Amino acid sequence: MCGIVGYVGHRAAQPVLVNCLKRLEYRGYDSCGIALLGKDVEIYKDAIRIEALEKKLRPHINKAGIGHTRWATHGKPSQGNAHPHADCTGKIAVVHNGVIDNYLALREKLTQEGHKFRSDTDTEVIPHLIEKYFQGDLQEAVSKAIGDMSGSYAFVAIHSDWDGMVVARNESPLILGVGDKENLVASDVPAVLDYTDRVIYLEDGDIGVVTGDGVRCFRNGKQIDREVHRIPWSIEEAQKGGYAHFMIKEIHEQPRVIRNTYKGYISALEPVVNLGIRKDAGINDILFIACGTSYYAALVGQQVIQSLTQIPVRVEIASEFNYSDTVLGRTWVIVITQSGETADVMRALKKAKEVGCRTLAITNVVGSSATRLADETLYITAGPEICVAATKSFIAQLTMLYLMGLAWASGDIRSRVSMATELRQLPDKVQQLIDREEEIAAFGKYLAKYENVFFVGRGLNYPVALEGALKLKEISYIHAEGYPAGELKHGPFALLTPKTPVVAIAARDNTYDTLMANIKEIKARESPVLAIAEEGDIEIEKYVDFAVRVPKVSPIFSPIVNAVALQLLAYYTAKERGCSIDTPRNLAKSVTVE
Ligand code: AGP
Ligand code: GLU
Repeated sequence: MCGIVGYVGHRAAQPVLVNCLKRLEYRGYDSCGIALLGKDVEIYKDAIRIEALEKKLRPHINKAGIGHTRWATHGKPSQGNAHPHADCTGKIAVVHNGVIDNYLALREKLTQEGHKFRSDTDTEVIPHLIEKYFQGDLQEAVSKAIGDMSGSYAFVAIHSDWDGMVVARNESPLILGVGDKENLVASDVPAVLDYTDRVIYLEDGDIGVVTGDGVRCFRNGKQIDREVHRIPWSIEEAQKGGYAHFMIKEIHEQPRVIRNTYKGYISALEPVVNLGIRKDAGINDILFIACGTSYYAALVGQQVIQSLTQIPVRVEIASEFNYSDTVLGRTWVIVITQSGETADVMRALKKAKEVGCRTLAITNVVGSSATRLADETLYITAGPEICVAATKSFIAQLTMLYLMGLAWASGDIRSRVSMATELRQLPDKVQQLIDREEEIAAFGKYLAKYENVFFVGRGLNYPVALEGALKLKEISYIHAEGYPAGELKHGPFALLTPKTPVVAIAARDNTYDTLMANIKEIKARESPVLAIAEEGDIEIEKYVDFAVRVPKVSPIFSPIVNAVALQLLAYYTAKERGCSIDTPRNLAKSVTVE
């Protein structure tokens, strides 16, 4: 879900579009392109960086055009799949962010009507629909095209027989930049800030008509007024959408990310999960392979999938698997990797393929190396993650693992339906937690003064304790260890003092009572205890010094809310210590060496 830009005005559009695209580069992308509006529409695009595209452009004086940075969702990154996409006549060009859910049905219908498709994208149906409906008025054609489409979109269309641009928005961000005899369109404010600080935020269902003379907004065919906002941010600040860091921005995106991840797989009509990937009857067991945060997601997935499907599940760290003699029989090897490029994971995937295992990649990046090597791929659709510390990709991975468990579950249909129903409520629960981040920020300030912290959990929340410790250590540089709560007494107790706080995840499942006993043991060593506890759990107050409250969910989903609480805790601790949160020392977002 990357960047779109558009310009119409008194300047040559080409350098403006290139500059606007560069301002959106921070969002990450795999391809880029521009289209210039003249007697014809001229398109330049490829799966390359913007600087490389710029070198391919010939000087142009046309005063209007559109541009795009693509984060592929349908079809691998390639020149043919890059935007802008054109219709059959070559007079229309469209750039789009989002996903057109019913594109396959539309594509089939349009093909029967004689339209020729040249890409694998969902986007390409838009210019063809506009071509179908165009009778001299681009606004009318766009409005009719939208009537046929379902899904999420922000798009800009141009037609060589029409002056200016027509834009539309549904569930994907889109703004209009209001200038002086020049106007712009973009998916985000930083793209336009070099030209104007006045913007209109379009709402879902709006259509905008943008010419050099002005911008007009429409809803249900009627012109409406939309407030023009003045942006007080610098470009740097604007790229983070007003947030202090990408990490906190990405934490805030998580309700939407959960929704995007399950959306295509749980039918809107009945809460049943269909992944489109079958669990093969010939498979004996599953082996998850991953690194870092993705490994911790796999550890949660192991318990969830085992309990729902009764299939034995193993988990290995990729760098260890590569030198091990792990027995692979009729084992389904599933790699989990946000980037799809982690070298240890790629090597593990090759090893699994060499011995003939069926392989599946769970990743965030379309066209990444893992997707090219694995037999099958499931995308988590978290959108680009900029902060080195993984947050929204972890939550999206967990969501995908729940979906896998539900899709392949062998148990009673009623309990599966009720779980799928609850999965759809998780975005609201996570939002409720985020709305109370001020309380967690206060605990972050408290933790910031310590140098060693333990994180403990049991069962499903033991991997969450590991992830909480990883988040804290990587961004705040506080030494943090994650442990199963029952294991502290087998050695780490030697380190417990009043200067060693312990964060205890208190899920209301069958581990709760023993966890309380473990907390008592910890308190006897005088360590301060901060619990992550469900709202309404009064019992916990007898045992701990402080409690971060999380919304009540079924125990199986508790890793989601607990992990978000720990992300916020790590973030505010690191912020208090003045750390370089988005780019921690010595770390890289994508680890491409073994
Ligand atoms: C977590 O915050 C880290 N960025 C790191 O542990 C990461 O999860 C690991 O390097 C694996 O990356 P991948 O998911 O892209 O394979
Ligand atoms: N779904 C479209 C594609 O894959 C748009 C992706 C984007 O938002 O960048 O081409």
